[in-house]
Amino acid sequence: MQHVLVTGGAGFIGSNFIHYLLKAEPEVRVYTLDALTYAGHRQNLEHLPDDSRHTFIHGSINNRQLVDNLLRKYTIDTIIHFAAETHVDRSISGPASFIETNVVGTFTLLEAARQAWLEEKIVAQPRFHHISTDEVFGTLALDDPPFCETTPYAPNSPYAASKASSDHLVRAYYKTYGLPVTITNCSNNYGPRQFPEKLIPLMIFNALQGKPLPIYGDGQQVRDWLYVEDHCTAIHAVLQKGRLSETYLVGGRNQPPNVELVRLICAILDEHFPDSPHYPHADLIQFVADRPGHDRRYDVSTTKMEDELGWQPQYNLDQGLHNTVAWYLKNSNWITAVTGGESFANWINENYTQRGAETQ
Ligand code: NAD
Ligand code: DAU
Repeated sequence: MQHVLVTGGAGFIGSNFIHYLLKAEPEVRVYTLDALTYAGHRQNLEHLPDDSRHTFIHGSINNRQLVDNLLRKYTIDTIIHFAAETHVDRSISGPASFIETNVVGTFTLLEAARQAWLEEKIVAQPRFHHISTDEVFGTLALDDPPFCETTPYAPNSPYAASKASSDHLVRAYYKTYGLPVTITNCSNNYGPRQFPEKLIPLMIFNALQGKPLPIYGDGQQVRDWLYVEDHCTAIHAVLQKGRLSETYLVGGRNQPPNVELVRLICAILDEHFPDSPHYPHADLIQFVADRPGHDRRYDVSTTKMEDELGWQPQYNLDQGLHNTVAWYLKNSNWITAVTGGESFANWINENYTQRGAETQ
């Protein structure tokens, strides 16, 4: 791994991974390809550990000519593919861009890699690592065992179905053409630089302003929360020691129901702001109309990551949430920059007003 193309590197997990990788691998050069959609921000790539080893390219994974040029110009030997449309609620109100980016975009990258690496053999030891999600497995009942690498796919949202499609394409490119691939399917990430449309940063963002904290349905849905730095170490372990064509599940073993998780965030904000007019922040919780097709429960077995690669998450939920809240408190300029403008306000109105949620 010398010249790494990171797609979607201006987003949440991709940018955290680039910060991590430049530190962990002092020789590696990183090339970020990002379309800078509403979810991608150049600020996420400021203050990198060694900026001279990083190059940013503004463009889309769907642009085949651009991808072809990048692979050759920078003799890319490793592609780490994060770029995607990622918000389940947006996939329900507008699925088309999910098909375009997650399915057609992944196909475009795979085709470019196949030509450059397998036909023209521009590098000796290439690797295509695909970042995917536990949502491809659908939902669990309360007493079901956790998802594992052999769980059948049963995606329930357009987002999950688009990611499942991309996983199948990646797998097929190994089986059919011998493209050297690995896949990770990870649970819910949280931490610095997550766009405040997702549950944890939205709750911090709203609570700080004394706005209602909208919880879908009865709030008893369960997610398996992983601090983003732990996801970065997992991807690194798979790149170093993972077996080609294998899938690895990554999770955090942190599984409170949504409403309990939001209460934990409120308690941390209470610690920081005991004199706030919004104290206790949990009083801001508001139950609103549920997400259509809402998956009830996720749980991820990480046995393969542990046994084969010796990986384990290092952060428990309490540490991770304290770090996350502290980061958002310290980075109010970042929050203002990424939520400024009409696009974010329009999304909040569109998604929450129709649920009967107060947005002010
Ligand atoms: P994000 O929404 O924060 O960032 C996505 C990035 O992709 C943005 O920078 C965006 O500009 C870029 N992008 C979108 N379309 C593009 C295109 N056509 N060409 C180039 N760039 C494009 O996403 P995230 O939460 O960081 O997720 C990253 C990856 O991890 C995704 O593949 C997602 O499915 C997967 N994943 C996310 C989670 C999670 O909890 N966030 C969990 C498991 C897996
Ligand atoms: O499981 C991995 C997935 O986790 C990733 O693949 C996705 O890209 C990522 O967005 C995330 O999907 P979720 O739908 O689980 O995340 P989200 O933060 O949108 O929601 C988490 C839970 O909180 C879910 O049960 C829905 C609920 N929720 C969410 C929002 C935004 C609320 O109750 N209120 C909200 O306002």
